Amino acid sequence: MGKGRRCSMVINFSDDQDEVRIPKEAVALLKKGLQAVAKIHDLPAKTEVSVSLVNDEVIHVLNKDYRGIDRPTDVLSFALDEAVEPKENGGPEEHLLGDIVISAETAVRQGKEYGHGLNRELVYLGVHSLLHLLGYDHMNKADKEIMRAEEEKALQKIGLSQEDMDREKEKQDPVHFSAAVKEAPASRKAKKKTASHLEKEKSEMGNKKSEKKDKTILKLYKKALKTRENAYVPFSKFKVGAAVLTSSGEIYTGCNIENSSFGLTVCAERVAIFKAAAAGVRPGEMKMLLVAADTEDVTSPCGACRQVIAEFGIPEIVMANVSGDMKKVTLEELLPFGFKASDFT
Ligand code: THU
Repeated sequence: MGKGRRCSMVINFSDDQDEVRIPKEAVALLKKGLQAVAKIHDLPAKTEVSVSLVNDEVIHVLNKDYRGIDRPTDVLSFALDEAVEPKENGGPEEHLLGDIVISAETAVRQGKEYGHGLNRELVYLGVHSLLHLLGYDHMNKADKEIMRAEEEKALQKIGLSQEDMDREKEKQDPVHFSAAVKEAPASRKAKKKTASHLEKEKSEMGNKKSEKKDKTILKLYKKALKTRENAYVPFSKFKVGAAVLTSSGEIYTGCNIENSSFGLTVCAERVAIFKAAAAGVRPGEMKMLLVAADTEDVTSPCGACRQVIAEFGIPEIVMANVSGDMKKVTLEELLPFGFKASDFT
């Protein structure tokens, strides 16, 4: 809570889960980290943010409903959407930033995995999420660097910056906060180690300038993931989804379709592009293509698809994975020195 201190932001905190015990000290640090961001950004004292700790199951549902990603995640940011609740209808007001939802289970797990403990993980997730609410994002390298610097600035203020952590590690306290972890169910334990969305960099919210573009990417992403469910992959069992955005704003989706004569398999990207082409969309009329699969890093289009992407002159390609990591590249970056019609016509 703001405790009435003059420059404190109001933090409406609630621990809505029973799976892991979050020590008071961790919550206090989380609040301190958020206040540090507020202070650095000179947020007015009446600024309000709500923070809730949930379990993996709840964040999984939210992640699925709001981002179309069918798995738990570490943190979600929900900015109050002015389009949905215009001011005339009584809200939202500028001082209400939105909601930060953190999975306590994932925070504990990741704190252990990364070796820096629950305290830092919780603060880090909160700070990262609050920065999203303030318009920061990590869609491209430059934005990512800016956001990282902001995170460090806030963490430094409360002695939890990377440097502080490295120093602390040297002193070593290997069982830092492990007492807070309750036994995880066997199924969860057996799960492969999934890196946090923060470590793998995903996009949720855009800054003011790129907000519209980010929303479009998110739309393509959701559609690609939905179509990915239809992948016909009896052989590889590797589902891929793709979506193409046209200049007129239409979206065509595709998934990979395999064949017992393996060479006849068609990739998701080409299915999406060919569907658009079959609907009359010509080269130069496709603006962006997104591809996603369950890969550790982002999913990169195969060589054949790159040639087809080049044929239709799609200038921007977003490579993603089901964890929400994304990387946007240009056609030139994707297929340098590509073969083109002008080479023989
Ligand atoms: N695949 C795609 O759909 N897109 C790519 O860019 C790479 C590969 C599919 C084809 C096949 O069904 C499976 O992934 C394994 O190669």
